[in-house]
Amino acid sequence: MMRRILGCSGRPVLFRDLSPDAPRVRVTLDGQVLHLPAGANLAAALLGAGITTFRMTPVSGASRGPFCMMGACFDCLIGVEGVTRQACMMQVSDGMVLTRPLGKGGA
Ligand code: FES
Repeated sequence: MMRRILGCSGRPVLFRDLSPDAPRVRVTLDGQVLHLPAGANLAAALLGAGITTFRMTPVSGASRGPFCMMGACFDCLIGVEGVTRQACMMQVSDGMVLTRPLGKGGA
C-alpha cells in the first residue's frame, strides 16, 4: 500500500522530510509560519514542507520552483529578509522572513 505524505498545507507532497525528528526553527513565508529543520538546505526544507512555488516570473507570471538544487538555474529565487537569494544555496535559520518575488503585474 502506498503511503501519502502530506505537507503543512495538508496536501500531498512530492518530497519527504528525511529527518522528521530534527530540531525545528520558526520561519515565515509570506506571513505563513513554518517550522523547518534548523540548518537544512532552505530549498529542500521548503519542498519537504510542501512549498513548490518559490517565485513567479516577471514576464508571464508563471510559477517557478527549485530545479537543479546546485545554484545553476536560478528557479529557486526567493526573498530572504528583503533580498532575493537562491534558496538552494542557503541554510534554514531561526526567524527567517521569506517572501515570494511577485510576478507579472506585481509591485
Ligand atoms: S534550484 Fe537551481 S539555482 Fe537553486
